[in-house]
Amino acid sequence: MKDVFKAQKVTDTVYWVGAIDWVLRDFHGYATNRGTTYNAYLVLADTVALIDAVKAPFKDELLARIASVIDPKNISIIVSNHSEMDHTGCLPDVIEAVEPDAVYASRAGTEALARHFHGTGGIVAVEDGQTVSLGNRTLSFIETKMVHWPDSMLSTLVEEQLLFSQDGFGMHLATSELFADRLPREVLEFEAAKYFANILMPLVSPILKALGKVQEAGIELAVVAPDHGPIWRRREDIEFIVGKYAGWCEQKPTRKAVVVYDTMWGSTERLARAIGEGLKAGGAEPKLMPLKGCHRSDIATEVLEAGALVVGSPTLNNMMFPTVADVLTYLQGLRPKNLVGAAFGSYGWAAAGVKQVRETLEAMKVELVGEGLKVKYVPDGSDLKEAYSLGLAVAERLREVCARA
Ligand code: FEO
Repeated sequence: MKDVFKAQKVTDTVYWVGAIDWVLRDFHGYATNRGTTYNAYLVLADTVALIDAVKAPFKDELLARIASVIDPKNISIIVSNHSEMDHTGCLPDVIEAVEPDAVYASRAGTEALARHFHGTGGIVAVEDGQTVSLGNRTLSFIETKMVHWPDSMLSTLVEEQLLFSQDGFGMHLATSELFADRLPREVLEFEAAKYFANILMPLVSPILKALGKVQEAGIELAVVAPDHGPIWRRREDIEFIVGKYAGWCEQKPTRKAVVVYDTMWGSTERLARAIGEGLKAGGAEPKLMPLKGCHRSDIATEVLEAGALVVGSPTLNNMMFPTVADVLTYLQGLRPKNLVGAAFGSYGWAAAGVKQVRETLEAMKVELVGEGLKVKYVPDGSDLKEAYSLGLAVAERLREVCARA
């Protein structure tokens, strides 16, 4: 296999030995329309190290890529920066095949790996700031709890100012291009934003802390090598992605107003369209996202850079519509910040859907405009006027909020 699945050079000492998953379309509920990569890195220093591993089905490809440049048995150190199984699924088998002198993870990582792979012992916990000498190179570890699991840490290859950033600065993008500078900027920006929105958005404080720790460590980053997607190696690209993270952490409100809804017989949709007209007339930028055509992870991506979230639901069996409950549960967990919003919907005999949407938006700390627009059965001209006025009111509040931000 080593003549087919080969390592790719990142620097003179670092090789990419990961896997490209061209097939993946669902990553625990996140629509990965462009597939993904599971990146692992081989450091060919005096002491050879493997940084992270890959999802279980790709073990043979990982070992083949390693074997294309070195006998896997020559690996002395394995580092597990993050124990989620897209990076560790094959780790017990790799440890068995390689027989390294040491496997390192954060303290929480050793516990998480023990709980994932019952019987995998002997993993050594490293502390924040600890270094491990590879002879002519040095690995240094930065603990980054909750970015995005309790076990998460970063590793740096000190002499090369190279950061192995595990999920951070990554994206789900299957590509045979190793470096970000060989890919269209708009694709990078979209997929990085989608990754941040769907994986990292609830963890703004730990992310800012982690960014601060990288700065404090005085590392002038020359290469940022994440565990998903392309590697950042040009200064301008590193500044671009770090700057984007700073902005996404802040989530300053914009004039974009995301209108999410589903509909049973078209009534809630008619209201959504009228609200969209009102939003536009009020100076906002409406983006209607009908749940029959939009995936929850694309909605989360739009919400990341929005200022308003307006949600419409019919009432079904005295409950909000199941698809609306799905997306609200998802968004509530992601904890978007600094949003104004409103609830609306059509009903037959009890307007429970709108009430439940409103309660959920309140729980999400969305600043609500109005009491929620409820329309019995099919909206008439006056109802549509009311929906238009709701759009205008949300746009007006958004204008005030944006001016203040
Ligand atoms: Fe790519 Fe959190 O695993």
